[in-house]
Amino acid sequence: MTVSKIFIAGAGNVGSASAAFMSMKQLGNVYLFDIIEDFAIGQAMDINQSLPYWNSDSKVSGCRSLDEMEGADVVVITAGGKRAEGMTRLDLLYQNLDIMYQIGEKVMALAPKAFVHVTSNPVDVLAWALKAKWPEMNVTGLGCALDAMRFRFFLAEHLNVSREAVGCTVIGTHDDNMIPLVARADVGGIPVTQHLTPADEERLVTLVKHGGGDIVKRLKTRSGFFAAATKVTHIIESYLYNKQHIFPLSVTLNGEYGYTDMALSLPVSIGERGVHDIFEFELSDHERAMLDVCAGSMRKVISEIRARQ
Ligand SMILES: NC(=O)c1ccc[n+]([C@@H]2O[C@H](COP(=O)([O-])OP(=O)(O)OC[C@H]3O[C@@H](n4cnc5c(N)ncnc54)[C@H](O)[C@@H]3O)[C@@H](O)[C@H]2O)c1
Repeated sequence: MTVSKIFIAGAGNVGSASAAFMSMKQLGNVYLFDIIEDFAIGQAMDINQSLPYWNSDSKVSGCRSLDEMEGADVVVITAGGKRAEGMTRLDLLYQNLDIMYQIGEKVMALAPKAFVHVTSNPVDVLAWALKAKWPEMNVTGLGCALDAMRFRFFLAEHLNVSREAVGCTVIGTHDDNMIPLVARADVGGIPVTQHLTPADEERLVTLVKHGGGDIVKRLKTRSGFFAAATKVTHIIESYLYNKQHIFPLSVTLNGEYGYTDMALSLPVSIGERGVHDIFEFELSDHERAMLDVCAGSMRKVISEIRARQ
């Protein structure tokens, strides 16, 4: 049996935790790279030394160069800078965009058939940018998949039921405009709205929308990463084992939901070909209006990027 090669660009919190979780689950051999010299090598040593407990024979290697992605089946991109003092969001976008293009060049040269998965922010924009530059790239972004898992957690806590009993999703863009679809959530197959007051709904939506920020407030200089790395692991598992799980990932649209030339986070099934289907459902007027807000701000950023090129 061939062992999958998983290359992770960016050995920071999300990258290293993803390497740990994927190797614990024995999804393949993991190659970890970071721009900071030796950092990925140290992280790989630490993760490897934990694997005997997990009965895992996966090997984690720290890399000194992006060239080590050659022949990878999966490339996860978590590389990115943080906003330094005086930097605008747009400055950070351009900084991370340049990193995406630099890594994207290597993917197309060394692992053109790889399933590429981006977490770096702004994730929907960066996933779109890679697809716009290399239409043949098999790329998705983490999008609202983590937010959907958070929503499930908060709903289960509120209803005091198993987390497995709850079905729900979040669509749009992974930012303040994200749309937790309360009206479509279910608990044991029953619409969750039958168990919520309007005040509950509002509180739960706010918890999901502020989920990431509420963690950053406590961690101060870092952001949450256990949940993000868990979701990345779930997505890569679905790809490698052709499971066809459904996640709201950033995908470039070609007429789906009436949008083109932009990426939005929408429910997609992930299997051996990457995205198998983008699931469309009829939106209510309210949902359509909220998705239009996401699309409008995405369009604006894309035109700024095009103006810069
Ligand atoms: N979409 C989501 O739900 C979600 C959730 C969590 C984090 N994120 C995003 O994922 C990214 C990673 O988060 P993190 O917490 O791991 O950040 P982090 O700062 O811990 O790690 C980023 C790493 O990227 C490295 N890096 C920078 N430039 C590089 C390059 N050119 N090549 C290789 N490595 C490079 C840095 O040295 C650093 O180690 C961030 O952009 C973050 O905003 C997204």
